[in-house]
Amino acid sequence: MKGIIFTEFIDMVEEHFGYEMVDYLIESSELPSGGSYTSVGTYNYSEIMQLVRQLHLKTEIPLDDLLRTFGIHLHKTFTTGYHHFFEAYDSSREFLESIDNHIHVEVRKLYPDAELPRFVTSRPNEDTLEMLYTSERKMGQLALGLIEKSVEFYNEKAEVTMENLSNDGTQVRFVIKYIQ
Ligand code: HEM
Repeated sequence: MKGIIFTEFIDMVEEHFGYEMVDYLIESSELPSGGSYTSVGTYNYSEIMQLVRQLHLKTEIPLDDLLRTFGIHLHKTFTTGYHHFFEAYDSSREFLESIDNHIHVEVRKLYPDAELPRFVTSRPNEDTLEMLYTSERKMGQLALGLIEKSVEFYNEKAEVTMENLSNDGTQVRFVIKYIQ
């Protein structure tokens, strides 16, 4: 997993819980990398889950909530660092539909070893966007935070629901129902 995900996670923990918490998480986890992340590095995906789990154990905040908050934080990072992707679209529907065949395609060009999810989208009716998420990394809650913030970014309103299609979290359906 790319270093930017790790440096942004550390950033979020520092912002919400303070630097002592960052220290605690790194000390109390068994991290092959030792925990000194750089945005250009690549680290094992299991390290981020270990850090999230340690934060959950320490704060007693549900894992799902922590991942979703991380998605919200990451969205802010993307709107500054990758603003051209947002400017290329006029609505969250078009933006979200473009992740698989544009945005993450460009991300892979930048980072050939990126571990990206798959999204298959459809519009069951004119108010609704459906997104099917598939990933071995089981980060559906991260996607939820990113989706909710994407709707907000384009000044739209929608009810976003998430449904697990598999017991292990590798397949998730999002239904984004736009409110006029
Ligand atoms: C400008 C917009 C975006 C950029 C630049 C971007 C970039 C990235 C990058 C760099 C990674 C990490 C890959 C790795 O570490 O190997 C990633 C992962 C991920 N992205 Fe995006 N992304 C964007 C938008 C979105 C949106 C809107 C969603 C949600 C619908 C999304 C869902 C995910 C998820 C869930 C992962 C975690 C990996 C996984 O689940 O397999 N991304 N993205």
